[in-house]
Amino acid sequence: MQPNECLSPTNWKSEFTKLFSAIKTEKTIIDSITMMIGAGRLTTLIITAFALALTPALTAQAAPIVIKFSHVVAQNTPKGKASDYFKKLVEKRTGGRIKVEVYPNSRLYNDKDEMEALQLGAVQMLAPSLAKFAQLGVKEFEVFDLPFIFDNYQELHKVTQGPIGAKLMARLEPKGIHGLAYWDNGFKVMSANKPLKAPEDFKGQKMRIQPSMVLDSQMRAMGASPQALPFSEAYKALQTGDVDGTENPPSNLYTQKMHEVQKYVTLSDHGYLGYAVIVNKKFWNGLPSDIRSILEGAIKDATKYANNIAKKDNDESLAAVKKSGKSRIITLTAQERAQWKKTMDKAHKDNMRRIGAGLIMEVYKETGYPSY
Ligand code: LMR
Repeated sequence: MQPNECLSPTNWKSEFTKLFSAIKTEKTIIDSITMMIGAGRLTTLIITAFALALTPALTAQAAPIVIKFSHVVAQNTPKGKASDYFKKLVEKRTGGRIKVEVYPNSRLYNDKDEMEALQLGAVQMLAPSLAKFAQLGVKEFEVFDLPFIFDNYQELHKVTQGPIGAKLMARLEPKGIHGLAYWDNGFKVMSANKPLKAPEDFKGQKMRIQPSMVLDSQMRAMGASPQALPFSEAYKALQTGDVDGTENPPSNLYTQKMHEVQKYVTLSDHGYLGYAVIVNKKFWNGLPSDIRSILEGAIKDATKYANNIAKKDNDESLAAVKKSGKSRIITLTAQERAQWKKTMDKAHKDNMRRIGAGLIMEVYKETGYPSY
């Protein structure tokens, strides 16, 4: 705008736009005022005053919305990699309007405290393992812990990607939590300082488990003594001998270096461990709808990514455990595995009422678990 130039109806809009984009720094603001005083136009000064009054609002809008995403595993695991991938997608697609801060390895909260932190809004996103939702009072999620209920990822996906998975997620809403997706990890191995081949080998073994009654029943059915401990304490408990053994997919075993303090690893694939990606519901509902759509798209893509890498990641971790030579790998014969399955079936029977027989039957129908 030139000195003494009038604000015509046609250039009002462009002057506004120029002014708003110009007032990014104090210097430009002062320059703008000086220029307009020079122009001697009252209207222009009024516009400037109006724009300055709006400056704090504009600045506040420019600050990114922060999503704190806390998890308990290492970065080089399926969950670690997928949450980093989600961050990358979101920050790129929102042009920096959203900042995702990923805190791995229980750096912010351990698995005992993270659910509460989410409900209180201290973090906005988590991806706890499915075994940890009973702590919230949603015991149905323990259906995923039932031993031998899934033979492979295909059977699992019939549940996680179908109506049963959606129904379970809906159960989180009254808890102030919105479920976004299921992310795969993998099938568990069993480790200890003695070879675990037959159920009798478990007798008296103190086994670290996640806080799930199904896993508790599973270990008791084998004759072991289950000890529920946060993931962040598992390695230390194994190292000091507070517990004798544990179970986890190879990826968690390897990245936590548990194989370095366990003499034997049995390839049993006796159960599944995976995640539900969840968000604080109030935070989610308060987001601008365009941002929410971008986040939904990013979750969809990160889920595809997570589920594509999970098997390979676990295979590579198992290969690394073997290569390390730190623990001996035990492969079960078909008969030995059948014996585990038969013995662990007690965990199904014992938890029918807790999880709900109806839900268990629905899952059996999808997966063809033998008792169905
Ligand atoms: C565990 O506690 O063993 C797992 O849930 C850790 C994880 O999040 O994979």
